[in-house]
Amino acid sequence: MTLRPNDLNAYWMPFTANRQFKANPRMIVGADGMYFKTSDGRDVLDGIAGLWCCNAGHNRPRIVEAIKKQVSELDYAPAFQMGHPKQFELASRLASMMPGDLNRVFFTNSGSESVETALKMALAYHRVRGEGHRTRLIGREKGYHGVNFGGMSVGGMPANRKMFGTLVAGVDHLRHTHGVEGNLFAKGQPENGAELADDLERLCQLHDPSTIAAVIVEPLAGSAGVILPPKGYLERLRKICDTHGILLIFDEVITGFGRLGTPFAVDKFGVEPDIVTTAKGLTNGVIPMGAVFVQDKIYEAFMEGPENMVEFFHGYTFSGNPMACAAALGTLDTYQEDGLLTRATDLSDYWQQAVHSLKGLPHVIDLRNMGFIAGIELEPYPGKPTKRAFEAFLKAYEMGLLIRTTGDTIALSPPLIIEKTHIDFAFETLATIIRNLE
Ligand SMILES: Cc1ncc(COP(=O)(O)O)c(C=O)c1O
Repeated sequence: MTLRPNDLNAYWMPFTANRQFKANPRMIVGADGMYFKTSDGRDVLDGIAGLWCCNAGHNRPRIVEAIKKQVSELDYAPAFQMGHPKQFELASRLASMMPGDLNRVFFTNSGSESVETALKMALAYHRVRGEGHRTRLIGREKGYHGVNFGGMSVGGMPANRKMFGTLVAGVDHLRHTHGVEGNLFAKGQPENGAELADDLERLCQLHDPSTIAAVIVEPLAGSAGVILPPKGYLERLRKICDTHGILLIFDEVITGFGRLGTPFAVDKFGVEPDIVTTAKGLTNGVIPMGAVFVQDKIYEAFMEGPENMVEFFHGYTFSGNPMACAAALGTLDTYQEDGLLTRATDLSDYWQQAVHSLKGLPHVIDLRNMGFIAGIELEPYPGKPTKRAFEAFLKAYEMGLLIRTTGDTIALSPPLIIEKTHIDFAFETLATIIRNLE
């Protein structure tokens, strides 16, 4: 193959319609604050914080400086049997932000890796406690937990699973909570559907609870189209897990770091799981990093046997990488100084009104919101699912707004620095687009 400058052929793009993109590329060449700069010189409002990750907006000085300083001081330290101070500083700081007993932190490099880590921790935890018969993992339909085998297996989005064989054995799924009667156009948490948590009891009856290690859910499901937990649902899941000795894992890769108007979904819903997975907003998306929070009891269960032995045979070359730690510390400083982790609460009425201003427009069959998240569900184009929403995405980009679509739902999750004028622009633009969709 002859390579040419700007040749688009070699790069196989992830989760992308490669042929469509390469025929008509959308290139980002810069970013600052709320905006991306495109290769054709336009400013595009970032309506999705990159990919739900640049929560403090782009080009934040504290983060940029932290990385520059770190790279000249210590570029890399071995992750295994060695440490460097920023790992410990960051873990302590993160633990102090998380409520309850979630005081131990394990570093990864992505949301997918955080999920794999959490699932392995759950299995191994039961095993070190002498309950190695707990091998089943329970996910939920429409769940998204990344793309590695464990996360894919507990995940419940058919397109992400169907190509990849039999996946991990011993996994089952709760029913999803989308489309419950009476919940359409609910503002914030919907009223109906808490009883869907009892589906876990059904699976306990089927498999026997003594075989189940953990249940993993997104407290608010993002990737499948912004699906909020019905009031009382998460509380009920927690209760059933407690009754049967099952670990509860919240996948907070999206909801972590201020997305819902509180630091974590754990704060928002007042339900404490045993394990929390995070990534994305941890470093403002600037350097890949994830963190898994576990309750003290889990960490402590591993701390037995000869002291010179590795207690948990798991980790990544880049776990707690110096640059990632520096970026995360700079990010936490930025969140704190600008009060970003609760900002979505301050503006929640304005956001909610803006989202629901789209009610009544053609094709809009549901609207969902919480914190700085919106789900705008469109009726699929007859016989061509996803077409209508994808057209909205292309049109929005043309009009200076970056959105994300999943199926026929448009998702918005802007940087938490968003101002009312940006919100106005985003929803006015969307209204125009939706009115003109085929
Ligand atoms: C809830 C959830 N878990 C896991 C992931 C996977 O994260 P990553 O793409 O960093 O591997 C995502 C990504 O969107 C997510 O939303």
